[in-house]
Amino acid sequence: MREEPLIFVDGKVLGIRQARQTDLERILWGNEHQRASRQAFLDRQARGEIVMLLPTLDDEPIGHLAIDLVALQDEGGVYLYWFHVLDPFARRGIGTAVVRRAEEIAVQAGRTFSEIAVGKNNPDARRLYERLGYQLIGERVDSWLSAQPDGSQVEVFDNNWVLRKSLGEV
Ligand SMILES: CC(C)(COP(=O)(O)OP(=O)(O)OC[C@H]1O[C@@H](n2cnc3c(N)ncnc32)[C@H](O)[C@@H]1OP(=O)(O)O)[C@@H](O)C(=O)NCCC(=O)NCCS
Repeated sequence: MREEPLIFVDGKVLGIRQARQTDLERILWGNEHQRASRQAFLDRQARGEIVMLLPTLDDEPIGHLAIDLVALQDEGGVYLYWFHVLDPFARRGIGTAVVRRAEEIAVQAGRTFSEIAVGKNNPDARRLYERLGYQLIGERVDSWLSAQPDGSQVEVFDNNWVLRKSLGEV
Protein backbone atom coordinates (compact mmCIF):
# COMPACT_ATOMS: atom_id res chain seq x y z
CA MET A 1 0.00 0.00 0.00
CA ARG A 2 1.29 3.45 -0.88
CA GLU A 3 2.31 5.62 2.10
CA GLU A 4 0.13 8.74 2.12
CA PRO A 5 1.52 11.90 3.76
CA LEU A 6 -0.18 12.76 7.05
CA ILE A 7 -2.77 15.52 6.66
CA PHE A 8 -3.11 17.93 9.59
CA VAL A 9 -6.34 19.90 9.98
CA ASP A 10 -6.49 22.52 12.73
CA GLY A 11 -3.57 20.74 14.42
CA LYS A 12 -5.33 17.35 14.38
CA VAL A 13 -4.37 14.35 12.26
CA LEU A 14 -6.90 13.27 9.65
CA GLY A 15 -8.19 9.72 10.07
CA ILE A 16 -10.14 7.73 7.50
CA ARG A 17 -12.04 4.71 8.77
CA GLN A 18 -15.07 2.56 8.18
CA ALA A 19 -18.30 3.76 9.82
CA ARG A 20 -19.63 1.97 12.90
CA GLN A 21 -23.22 1.69 14.09
CA THR A 22 -22.29 3.98 16.99
CA ASP A 23 -21.51 6.74 14.46
CA LEU A 24 -25.18 7.20 13.59
CA GLU A 25 -25.70 10.16 15.93
CA ARG A 26 -22.45 11.73 14.76
CA ILE A 27 -23.23 11.65 11.02
CA LEU A 28 -26.55 13.48 11.36
CA TRP A 29 -24.91 16.85 11.96
CA GLY A 30 -28.21 18.21 13.27
CA ASN A 31 -30.29 16.81 10.40
CA GLU A 32 -32.55 14.56 12.42
CA HIS A 33 -34.74 13.91 9.36
CA GLN A 34 -31.74 12.11 7.78
CA ARG A 35 -31.68 9.44 10.52
CA ALA A 36 -33.48 6.72 8.55
CA SER A 37 -31.42 7.22 5.39
CA ARG A 38 -28.17 7.22 7.40
CA GLN A 39 -29.28 4.00 9.13
CA ALA A 40 -30.01 2.54 5.70
CA PHE A 41 -26.38 3.16 4.72
CA LEU A 42 -25.23 1.39 7.91
CA ASP A 43 -27.60 -1.48 7.17
CA ARG A 44 -26.23 -1.84 3.62
CA GLN A 45 -22.71 -1.93 5.07
CA ALA A 46 -23.74 -4.59 7.62
CA ARG A 47 -24.98 -6.73 4.69
CA GLY A 48 -21.61 -6.32 2.94
CA GLU A 49 -23.06 -4.32 0.04
CA ILE A 50 -21.14 -1.12 0.68
CA VAL A 51 -18.23 0.24 2.67
CA MET A 52 -19.00 3.54 4.38
CA LEU A 53 -15.79 5.56 4.73
CA LEU A 54 -15.62 8.46 7.17
CA PRO A 55 -12.85 11.07 7.30
CA THR A 56 -12.39 11.94 11.00
CA LEU A 57 -10.63 14.42 13.27
CA ASP A 58 -10.10 13.06 16.80
CA ASP A 59 -12.38 10.21 15.64
CA GLU A 60 -15.22 12.70 14.97
CA PRO A 61 -16.67 12.24 11.44
CA ILE A 62 -16.36 15.26 9.14
CA GLY A 63 -17.72 13.72 5.94
CA HIS A 64 -18.52 10.47 4.15
CA LEU A 65 -18.09 8.39 1.02
CA ALA A 66 -19.82 5.12 0.16
CA ILE A 67 -18.15 2.38 -1.89
CA ASP A 68 -20.82 0.27 -3.59
CA LEU A 69 -19.44 -3.26 -4.00
CA VAL A 70 -22.58 -4.61 -5.68
CA ALA A 71 -23.64 -2.23 -8.47
CA LEU A 72 -20.71 -2.94 -10.81
CA GLN A 73 -19.62 -6.29 -9.39
CA ASP A 74 -20.29 -8.21 -12.61
CA GLU A 75 -17.98 -5.87 -14.54
CA GLY A 76 -15.32 -6.00 -11.82
CA GLY A 77 -15.70 -2.43 -10.59
CA VAL A 78 -16.91 -0.35 -7.66
CA TYR A 79 -19.21 2.64 -7.67
CA LEU A 80 -18.35 5.59 -5.41
CA TYR A 81 -21.24 7.75 -4.21
CA TRP A 82 -22.62 9.80 -1.30
CA PHE A 83 -19.45 11.86 -1.18
CA HIS A 84 -19.24 14.89 1.08
CA VAL A 85 -16.71 16.77 3.19
CA LEU A 86 -18.23 19.28 5.65
CA ASP A 87 -17.79 22.85 4.44
CA PRO A 88 -15.36 24.05 7.15
CA PHE A 89 -12.96 21.27 6.16
CA ALA A 90 -13.27 21.41 2.36
CA ARG A 91 -10.40 22.28 -0.01
CA ARG A 92 -7.67 20.91 2.27
CA GLY A 93 -7.03 17.64 0.47
CA ILE A 94 -9.40 15.54 2.60
CA GLY A 95 -11.67 14.51 -0.29
CA THR A 96 -8.62 13.47 -2.31
CA ALA A 97 -7.36 11.30 0.57
CA VAL A 98 -10.79 9.67 1.01
CA VAL A 99 -11.11 8.78 -2.69
CA ARG A 100 -7.59 7.32 -2.67
CA ARG A 101 -8.44 5.17 0.36
CA ALA A 102 -11.60 4.00 -1.40
CA GLU A 103 -9.54 2.99 -4.43
CA GLU A 104 -7.16 0.99 -2.21
CA ILE A 105 -10.13 -0.85 -0.70
CA ALA A 106 -11.47 -1.56 -4.19
CA VAL A 107 -8.11 -3.01 -5.28
CA GLN A 108 -7.96 -5.15 -2.12
CA ALA A 109 -11.43 -6.44 -3.07
CA GLY A 110 -10.02 -7.46 -6.47
CA ARG A 111 -11.78 -4.74 -8.46
CA THR A 112 -10.15 -3.23 -11.53
CA PHE A 113 -11.97 0.07 -11.93
CA SER A 114 -13.78 2.73 -9.96
CA GLU A 115 -16.77 4.75 -11.22
CA ILE A 116 -18.26 7.97 -9.94
CA ALA A 117 -21.14 10.16 -11.13
CA VAL A 118 -21.01 13.91 -10.76
CA GLY A 119 -23.66 16.53 -11.42
CA LYS A 120 -23.28 18.54 -14.60
CA ASN A 121 -23.72 21.57 -12.31
CA ASN A 122 -20.72 20.55 -10.17
CA PRO A 123 -17.59 21.37 -12.21
CA ASP A 124 -15.41 21.65 -9.07
CA ALA A 125 -16.02 18.02 -8.10
CA ARG A 126 -15.54 16.88 -11.72
CA ARG A 127 -12.18 18.70 -11.83
CA LEU A 128 -11.15 16.95 -8.62
CA TYR A 129 -12.00 13.51 -10.07
CA GLU A 130 -10.21 14.25 -13.34
CA ARG A 131 -7.13 15.35 -11.43
CA LEU A 132 -7.30 11.97 -9.66
CA GLY A 133 -7.30 10.17 -13.03
CA TYR A 134 -11.03 9.67 -13.68
CA GLN A 135 -12.12 9.94 -17.31
CA LEU A 136 -15.52 10.74 -18.75
CA ILE A 137 -17.33 7.67 -20.10
CA GLY A 138 -20.86 8.98 -20.52
CA GLU A 139 -23.82 10.71 -18.96
CA ARG A 140 -27.07 9.67 -17.34
CA VAL A 141 -29.89 10.81 -15.10
CA ASP A 142 -29.79 9.26 -11.61
CA SER A 143 -32.69 9.48 -9.18
CA TRP A 144 -32.85 9.04 -5.41
CA LEU A 145 -35.20 9.77 -2.52
CA SER A 146 -34.35 12.81 -0.42
CA ALA A 147 -35.73 12.89 3.15
CA GLN A 148 -37.31 16.25 3.97
CA PRO A 149 -37.48 17.96 7.40
CA ASP A 150 -41.30 17.46 7.43
CA GLY A 151 -40.83 13.67 7.18
CA SER A 152 -41.80 13.39 3.52
CA GLN A 153 -39.56 12.06 0.77
CA VAL A 154 -38.93 13.80 -2.53
CA GLU A 155 -37.56 12.04 -5.61
CA VAL A 156 -34.56 13.99 -6.86
CA PHE A 157 -33.24 13.66 -10.41
CA ASP A 158 -29.55 14.39 -11.01
CA ASN A 159 -28.22 15.11 -14.47
CA ASN A 160 -24.81 13.47 -14.18
CA TRP A 161 -21.54 12.99 -15.93
CA VAL A 162 -20.18 9.45 -15.40
CA LEU A 163 -16.42 8.99 -14.93
CA ARG A 164 -14.26 5.92 -14.53
CA LYS A 165 -10.68 5.20 -13.50
CA SER A 166 -8.71 2.02 -14.11
CA LEU A 167 -7.26 0.88 -10.79
CA GLY A 168 -4.30 -0.97 -12.21
CA GLU A 169 -1.90 1.73 -11.08
CA VAL A 170 -3.26 2.40 -7.55
C1 LIG B 1 -16.45 17.38 -3.53
C2 LIG B 1 -15.87 17.32 -2.11
C3 LIG B 1 -16.31 16.02 -1.42
C4 LIG B 1 -14.34 17.37 -2.22
O1 LIG B 1 -13.76 17.31 -0.93
P1 LIG B 1 -12.52 18.25 -0.56
O2 LIG B 1 -12.05 17.80 0.77
O3 LIG B 1 -12.89 19.67 -0.70
O4 LIG B 1 -11.49 17.84 -1.70
P2 LIG B 1 -9.94 18.26 -1.85
O5 LIG B 1 -9.59 19.31 -0.84
O6 LIG B 1 -9.15 17.03 -1.89
O7 LIG B 1 -9.90 18.87 -3.30
C5 LIG B 1 -10.68 20.02 -3.62
C6 LIG B 1 -9.82 21.10 -4.20
O8 LIG B 1 -9.06 21.70 -3.18
C7 LIG B 1 -7.70 21.69 -3.55
N1 LIG B 1 -6.89 21.48 -2.38
C8 LIG B 1 -6.44 20.34 -1.88
N2 LIG B 1 -5.69 20.57 -0.78
C9 LIG B 1 -5.71 21.91 -0.60
C10 LIG B 1 -5.13 22.78 0.35
N3 LIG B 1 -4.38 22.31 1.39
N4 LIG B 1 -5.38 24.10 0.24
C11 LIG B 1 -6.14 24.59 -0.77
N5 LIG B 1 -6.70 23.78 -1.72
C12 LIG B 1 -6.48 22.48 -1.61
C13 LIG B 1 -7.54 20.56 -4.50
O9 LIG B 1 -6.43 20.79 -5.36
C14 LIG B 1 -8.84 20.61 -5.23
O10 LIG B 1 -8.70 21.60 -6.23
P3 LIG B 1 -9.31 21.39 -7.68
O11 LIG B 1 -10.80 21.55 -7.48
O12 LIG B 1 -8.73 22.46 -8.48
O13 LIG B 1 -8.96 20.00 -8.12
C15 LIG B 1 -16.36 18.50 -1.24
O14 LIG B 1 -15.98 19.70 -1.85
C16 LIG B 1 -17.86 18.50 -1.02
O15 LIG B 1 -18.35 17.89 -0.08
N6 LIG B 1 -18.63 19.18 -1.89
C17 LIG B 1 -20.10 19.24 -1.75
C18 LIG B 1 -20.75 17.92 -2.07
C19 LIG B 1 -20.32 17.39 -3.42
O16 LIG B 1 -20.27 18.13 -4.39
N7 LIG B 1 -20.02 16.09 -3.47
C20 LIG B 1 -19.59 15.43 -4.69
C21 LIG B 1 -20.73 14.77 -5.36
S1 LIG B 1 -20.20 13.93 -6.82
